[in-house]
Amino acid sequence: QSIPVITIDGPTASGKGTIASLVAQRLGWHTLDSGALYRLTALSCLRRGVDVQDEAQVQHAAQNLNVRFDYPHIYMDGDDVSDAIRQEEVGNLASQVAALPLVREALLQRQRDFRVAPGLVGDGRDMGTVVFPDAPLKIFLLADAEVRAQRRCKQLSEKGISANLTSLLADLRARDERDRSRTHAPLVPAQGAHIVDSSQLSIQEVVNKVLDLWSGIA
Ligand code: C5P
Repeated sequence: QSIPVITIDGPTASGKGTIASLVAQRLGWHTLDSGALYRLTALSCLRRGVDVQDEAQVQHAAQNLNVRFDYPHIYMDGDDVSDAIRQEEVGNLASQVAALPLVREALLQRQRDFRVAPGLVGDGRDMGTVVFPDAPLKIFLLADAEVRAQRRCKQLSEKGISANLTSLLADLRARDERDRSRTHAPLVPAQGAHIVDSSQLSIQEVVNKVLDLWSGIA
């Protein structure tokens, strides 16, 4: 019997991370925030002055990430980078490095290593399509772009980071477009994925929906 995985994929700011960690908490499972690995790769490039167009250099950065996850803290080279990787600049750069096939390949096994008993909830763009294609439950989480921009704006302002709704919306649409249209592991629902639109749902309602779906399988 293989270790169970629930995959939650979807566009930027659809609430994947929040839902994944609440579902994992309820089940007593581990989490994989796969976007963090792309963000860490981007930050590592920024800090080392690596040109993100240079695929071999970025691949090298991805292979040599020296990171430690201690949720909610993430450390790189001993530094707490939990806030630094959430900056919009790093997110935008992350979606550029994520389009490079050698970078995705470099991060693949690292992601699969998170599959540890009793189970894993993995969130990202290609959890159900590429990383854990055998997952028994796959969710594709959607929300309207305006709703996502508002959520992101609120999240940032709660952290004391000032944000502009119009530019957030534009960034988010650009990032969605890049994630959807790339050749390698584009953002598309996995075969058999349950599509959940969270635009009109509370966090708790989405969590319950996922848990209901899981209890129908387990
Ligand atoms: O989810 P998050 O916004 O943290 O992800 C940052 C970027 O990393 C995304 O815009 C996407 O381009 C990339 N990503 C990816 N595959 C994943 C997770 C994230 O390509 N599984």
